[in-house]
Amino acid sequence: MPLDIIIGAQWGDEGKGRITDLLAERAQVVARYSGGDNAGHTVTVGRRIFKLHLLPSGIVHPGAVGVLGNGMVINPARLLDEMDRLSQLGVEVSPRRIKISAGAHLITPAHVALDRADEVSRSKTGDKIGTTGRGIGPAYTDKSARRGLRAELLLDPERLGDRVVEHVRQTNVTLEKIYGQPPLDPVAVAAEYAAHARQLASYITDTSLYLHQRLSEGALVLAEGAQGTLLDLDHGTYPYVTSSSPTSGGVFSGLGLGPKFANRIIGVTKAFQTRVGEGPFPTEAFGAEAERLRGTGENPWDEFGTTTGRPRRCGWLDLVLLRYAIRVNGLTELALTKLDVLSGLNTVRLCTAYTAEEKTYTELPLGPADLAPFRAVCEELPGWSEEVSGARQLADLPPAARNYIRRIEALSGLPVTLISVGPERNQIIRPD
Ligand code: IMP
Repeated sequence: MPLDIIIGAQWGDEGKGRITDLLAERAQVVARYSGGDNAGHTVTVGRRIFKLHLLPSGIVHPGAVGVLGNGMVINPARLLDEMDRLSQLGVEVSPRRIKISAGAHLITPAHVALDRADEVSRSKTGDKIGTTGRGIGPAYTDKSARRGLRAELLLDPERLGDRVVEHVRQTNVTLEKIYGQPPLDPVAVAAEYAAHARQLASYITDTSLYLHQRLSEGALVLAEGAQGTLLDLDHGTYPYVTSSSPTSGGVFSGLGLGPKFANRIIGVTKAFQTRVGEGPFPTEAFGAEAERLRGTGENPWDEFGTTTGRPRRCGWLDLVLLRYAIRVNGLTELALTKLDVLSGLNTVRLCTAYTAEEKTYTELPLGPADLAPFRAVCEELPGWSEEVSGARQLADLPPAARNYIRRIEALSGLPVTLISVGPERNQIIRPD
């Protein structure tokens, strides 16, 4: 009854969707446990490109059931849109295949308006977070304040209507009085949610019970992380974080499972480092070097946000932060993605430590919340000119690329058990 967990070991966008897609081949259930449509997972199958924001990316496998756990915040309009697009691409979309937790929270247009208004206001004082503008923070705020809208309301149209009207009225006060923004029409939003309820009610269930039953029958369940360790509300680079718990602790509360089920805890990391939004980034590269890592935007896998289209900030793999991610998640292994992007560089770099005020640090003294004082200490390793996208075994890689991977293993203390060398399903190396 194993639960395998896939965690973003960096600032999100590590290629978790691609690794989930690979492991979902053998899984019976794939479950999202945190976040909402701030996530963006791209899965390439032949000529079909699936862009998923709310549904677990494993859903593209016909044998897998997709679960949206109680730790998530769900915008019903965006979910229905995603379900429609998947169905047009030939994926079966039905309550048999998709299960939504009654305890997940709903995002409304009022949350979205509040998120955007707050960012505009923060940008005036210079403390903008750079959110995805999807209403994530306000929805989790309402959840914590015990006035959120749980998905179970979709089963009770009358209560849903009343609660939505009350929620929009309350939010309007903040929108108008604090942010000077126009109010929303509570009755129109309630009507919209009544229509969503008609379409989604049959998908709502007790997903914790469902997952327990499946695990007890011996099914392989994959917990699919969204965002990444450094965006975790508790363990990330606060305040430049999201409002949920993408780390492994979030799996258990976000799915209603106990830790006894956990088996592999796989940390997904790019072979380099990226970040979107604001906040310090010690190994950030600039100019031509950053452009080289980012790509032009022509390819779907270039470093531009799947959700917002924003160019991602790019830099070198940071082992201080990776070791931190290994510790707070209890990772058992690493999956390294986008190794192919490094081909053609004369030298590649790995950050092994930081310096601040003439002291060297291999561990952050107070965690990653304030990275601003630290400068990266990097090792330079020889690069490789060969294309590696055709490699299927370690032995197919040039010696310098193998050396780079060995160095990551030595500095992190974990084995690299998957290496992705391109976006296609078969562009993967499984050492051993
Ligand atoms: P929010 O989750 O929209 O509130 O955004 C908070 C921070 O998390 C911002 O810096 C976003 O750019 C970042 N963020 C949220 N989701 C993702 C993701 O899936 N990948 C990368 N960054 C993300």
